[in-house]
Amino acid sequence: MTLKQALIGTIALAATALGAAPVDQLVGYGAGTTGGGSGSGTTVTSCSQLEAALKNGGVIRVNGMLNGCDILRPISNTSILGVGSNSGMVNGGLRLRQVSNVIIRNMKFDRAPPKGDALALDEATQVWIDHCEFKTVGLTGGKDDYDGLLDITHASDMVTVSWNKFYDHWKGSLVGHSDSNAGEDTGHLRITYHHNEFSNINSRTPSVRFGTAHVYSSCYTNIPTSGINSRMGAQVLVEHTHFSNVKRAIITNLDSKEDGYAVERNNVFDSSTIEITQQGNLSPPYSYTTDPASQACSIVRSSAGVGVVG
Ligand SMILES: *[C@@H]1O[C@H](CO)[C@@H](O)[C@H](O)[C@H]1NC(C)=O
Repeated sequence: MTLKQALIGTIALAATALGAAPVDQLVGYGAGTTGGGSGSGTTVTSCSQLEAALKNGGVIRVNGMLNGCDILRPISNTSILGVGSNSGMVNGGLRLRQVSNVIIRNMKFDRAPPKGDALALDEATQVWIDHCEFKTVGLTGGKDDYDGLLDITHASDMVTVSWNKFYDHWKGSLVGHSDSNAGEDTGHLRITYHHNEFSNINSRTPSVRFGTAHVYSSCYTNIPTSGINSRMGAQVLVEHTHFSNVKRAIITNLDSKEDGYAVERNNVFDSSTIEITQQGNLSPPYSYTTDPASQACSIVRSSAGVGVVG
């Protein structure tokens, strides 16, 4: 074990001790995702190196903030892992289209090119997005100047979004892009969101049409328009999560032709509202460990985001 690995181990252990849920483990709908496997892989330090490495897949380590890569497309069986606490993409993003088995960890995404998503999943299955950070410039300018931070569409499926920080942006995470896409999306778009922080995001944390979202042990602060938005018959289960200053923290009758379903339990709503018109019935088909809503924010603030596992 190198000194660096020892230090990372120590940090991960310290983080684990804060709560009951393991900080360095894949659980939920994305379970079984192995990405590029366990090899040491290729380290890249420029957009052109990243673009070349993405053609071969496997394990790709991104060292540093790569500026201006535009939107790049991974292939199946790939892991994209940031190195340390300041690696990722600025003015760029990733589009996972028609791929399977991809891991994205410890990456910062700071401003996608205008009209592009920082991270887009489109017909993508078996994906794990873990310990990343997503942001743009805050709630300023037009809400469509930048697109989504993490949009999951076109029957993407079996995804876990864990230990990430989403902040300072208009549109967070759109799951299911259109009321008229039932034919493709129904029965898909199954996603676990756990131990994430959403802070200063206008809406879509996430917004879910047709799909299934399990949200637990997460921390939401300052969401001025809407939080977890269940639409078009979507099923969401929201539990052990802390909401502070969140308008419509959970809502099932906003912005679509048909309402969604929701179950909420063991959450804390501080200066936050909810509106559930249809009780849901989601019972996740996997085992998982929650941390209580009262501790979710402190746990997530110290153990989510970059620099914890990479
Ligand atoms: C991904 O890896 C699996 C298992 O090795 C293999 O069967 C599959 O063909 C790979 N997919 C692609 C698109 O390379």
